[in-house]
Formats: sequence, C-alpha cells, structure tokens
Amino acid sequence: MTGATKPSVLVTRRMPSAVLAQLEVVCDIDLHDHSDALSHDALCARVGGKQGLICMFNDRIEESAIAAGDQLKVVATVAVGFDNIDVAAAASRGIVVTNTPDILTGATAEFTWALILAVTRRIGEGERVVRNGAWKGWAFDFLLGAELRGKQLGVVGAGRIGRAVAAVAPAFGMRAVFAARTGAGAENAATDHAVVSLDELLLTSDVVSLHVPLTQDTRHLINRRTLARMKRSAFLINTSRGGVVDDGALAWALDARLIAGAGLDVYEGEPGVHPQLVGRENVCLTPHLGSATRETRTAMAELAVRNVVEVVSGRPAVTPVAL
Ligand code: GLV
Repeated sequence: MTGATKPSVLVTRRMPSAVLAQLEVVCDIDLHDHSDALSHDALCARVGGKQGLICMFNDRIEESAIAAGDQLKVVATVAVGFDNIDVAAAASRGIVVTNTPDILTGATAEFTWALILAVTRRIGEGERVVRNGAWKGWAFDFLLGAELRGKQLGVVGAGRIGRAVAAVAPAFGMRAVFAARTGAGAENAATDHAVVSLDELLLTSDVVSLHVPLTQDTRHLINRRTLARMKRSAFLINTSRGGVVDDGALAWALDARLIAGAGLDVYEGEPGVHPQLVGRENVCLTPHLGSATRETRTAMAELAVRNVVEVVSGRPAVTPVAL
C-alpha cells in the first residue's frame, strides 16, 4: 500500500512508537506528538480529511469536532469511559466509536485498592510529615488509621472494574456489597456478593468505592444528600470519573465531618481540584492515574489502533461502544 492510498488518522497525543508503527502499516498518521491536548480549534482543523481519530478521555469530541471530520469512519478513544464523545452525533453520521474495555480493569482495580489503603492508613499524611521534617519520632497514638478487617466495602457499579475491586475485598477481611447503577437491580446478578440499594449501601458501608460511568444519571450521584447517608467513619473512593461526585458537596461533608475521608483520582474540571479538597489532610488526591501502568497504557493504545485498522479496512470494530 503506498502512502498516497493509505487512510489517514489523527492521533491526538504521544503514544508508544511501537504502537504507532503498527498503525503506520495501514494508515498515514498525523500525530500531535505532545503529552498535552490539542485545542478544540486545532483538533477541528486537523481532523478534516481523516478517516480515523485516536483520542484520549480528556479530548472533548463534541458534535462540532465530529462534523469537522468530513471523512471520519472511526473515533477510537484510549480509555474505557467515553463521556467526552458525542456518540449520538457520531452514530448519526455512521461513525463508529470504540473504547478500550477490559484491559485496564486490573490496573484500575489495583489503583483503587492503593487509594483505599492510602486514605484509611493515612499514608499521604504520614509521607508529608516525613518529607516536611516534622516527624518527632514514633508515638503510640500517632496518625492512627482505620482497619479494613471485618468492615464492609460498598461498590457502586457492578461493571468490570467494580467486580475486580470487590474480588480483592476478602483478602483484606472485608465483605463486599454492590449497588446496581440504578439503585438496585438484576444487573448485578452475576456477582458473588450481596446486591443492595444505593441507600442501604451508603448507610452500611465503611468504604464506598465508585465504579460507574459518567452519564446524565450518574452526574452528582454523590451529593450532599447521599454523602449525608454515609457513616461518619466511612471513606469515599472515586476512581471512576470526576462529575460522579459533586466535589463542592464532598468538601462540605468533610468539613462537617459527615464522613472520615476520601481517596480521589478524578475530579470535576480536571486538572483543577476543588480548593477545599486540596487543603485537607484526610483526603488522598492523585492525578487520574487509575490505568497508568506501562503495560496497561500500551495495551490500551494497541487496542485503539486495532479498532481503527479494522474499521478503516472495512471490518467491524473490535470494541465498539454501545449507544
Ligand atoms: C480513564 O479514565 C478511562 O476511562 O480509561
């Protein structure tokens, strides 16, 4: 295949060269070779004439960007979540949207446990004390945390990642319960764990971990009202999407000591973080690292490339998203 006849693909971010080499066998690549995002205008200008678009979760692929892709056949996001893409607008133009499910489940579940342990055992606080030279020495009652053994993990969302997080609970002596995405439902029948209403989960869990996609139904699922249902000794963990939690309400709940702490990897308005969260000791804040292992990010990029190659070659996508 000569360069002139190859379909053309816009890749909005730096990706491993070995993965780009796989794409280059079939496609011409227009690479935004940076770790930061293209502006909306630049993205619209560069997507014109492209058959494929490989993007990241923080590229906003709105209707205008999709319309600018006059030749587009496929939008492949290197992420499991696709709330950044106007899937309906793409579908109305016959454009396939794909994501990267499954392969990031293990990395994200591991990271969720890292946050659970970090916030319950006050690892961030402890590290700051040591780094700041403020450690006065071992003390019997210094930075006491909360033990997980015998406690309940409430998993909101029984998709792949939620189930992988729950599967680890017994190793820490915890029992896991699920809330179905819509409150309670048969969706969770496939799990080995109890399924309860969201309200019961909030009332009874010691750690509440969120694993739902961001949709109209889940936006601000965790708000003043739902936070007030949680135990005062409970911790909230969010490795799903900013926007599932109302960050202002969370800051309020922490100030009012309605919950004991939070472990957050995602935020409304990333990379901005609510100022009242930044200043708090009982919140462990990480910069959206859930799937950030070398192995997983490479596998995600490879899957996005496979999706593009399949679609531009006239074959079905490997992992299309459902509308
Ligand atoms: C990352 O946030 C993802 O959705 O994969």
